[in-house]
Amino acid sequence: MADAAKPILLSGIQPSGQLCLGNYLGAIKNWVGLQDSHDSIFLVVDMHALTVKQNPAELRKRCLSFVAQYIACGIDPKKSTIVIQSHVPQHSELMWILSSITSMGELNRMTQFKDKSKKHAANINAGLFTYPILMAADILLYQADLVPVGADQKQHLELSRDLAHRFNTQYSDTFTIPEPYIPKSGARVMSLQDPEKKMSKSDENLNNLITLLDSPDVARKKVKRAVTDSGSEIKLDDSRPGISNLLQIYSLISGNSIASIETEFEGKMYSDFKEVLGNSIAEFLTPIQHEYNRVIQDKSYLESVLNQGAENAYYRARKTLTKVYRKVGFISPAR
Ligand code: TYM
Repeated sequence: MADAAKPILLSGIQPSGQLCLGNYLGAIKNWVGLQDSHDSIFLVVDMHALTVKQNPAELRKRCLSFVAQYIACGIDPKKSTIVIQSHVPQHSELMWILSSITSMGELNRMTQFKDKSKKHAANINAGLFTYPILMAADILLYQADLVPVGADQKQHLELSRDLAHRFNTQYSDTFTIPEPYIPKSGARVMSLQDPEKKMSKSDENLNNLITLLDSPDVARKKVKRAVTDSGSEIKLDDSRPGISNLLQIYSLISGNSIASIETEFEGKMYSDFKEVLGNSIAEFLTPIQHEYNRVIQDKSYLESVLNQGAENAYYRARKTLTKVYRKVGFISPAR
């Protein structure tokens, strides 16, 4: 599966909460679009998920469900490698090496750490703090050229680039410096009830997000209840984040430009627009859920996808880590 002629692409999602439209429009949609032109690796980052308290049985189930949802959204395991992070021990091994070249100051500046510390005030663990180093290890381990993510991951990506550069300078050329791929549109899908906040898959208020597994009726209802702003025009406008967010979602799902949607709904009411948007989301979700229901039942297929993914990833990760160990001065073990 490793195709030397193609640039390497890597991305991942934490198996927390439920995959939502934000994850799809900010990340997965672009993964699908880029998988033909790239040698792609898509991770389910279960080790990252432990930074927030998890129920073990649910975590196990959710990891498999995420893999099935990647496939249902169009990731083709024949073209791309799908891997569960904890299946490849080199992620945490490389993380340790990178920890020694990361400063506390760099980690202190991470806005996601600050946000998550506020949100999980009773469980500000060391993993939450060192999380961006593990993410850098995920990326650098596979010598990724391109990392498609939403806007909220930009700062983490910058740290990954800095660490790659630092290691290369301190030792010698070892890591590819990864480029972020943040879409112009869809990089920050906002919450339906609170459009000043991003849509988050682990939001406790399920009315804030549309999950990929919401039934079409539930999705329609959530759109109907979405907060819109005072005013009545269906127009993109920074001072009206509610309607602007819905417009952007509709544009991304339908493939129509914002300008053409504004023209289509000129003189119409919010309720007209919400009805069309609700239907188009329902139409978008239906085939994904159909495929999901098929794949999630086929446990032996999922197992074979994960075995193959782990084997491929392990081989590649070991190659990088062996090089890294040699560069930092570790002696190879006697065999
Ligand atoms: P996570 O699990 O929070 O989100 C997964 C992906 O979805 C994007 N995203 C969004 N995009 C647009 N609008 C939103 N409202 C929205 N919410 C989430 C995220 O930007 C991300 O691309 N640290 C990462 C996971 C990770 C990773 C990696 C990513 C671990 N290792 C290596 C890339 C490469 C995270 O927590 O994403």
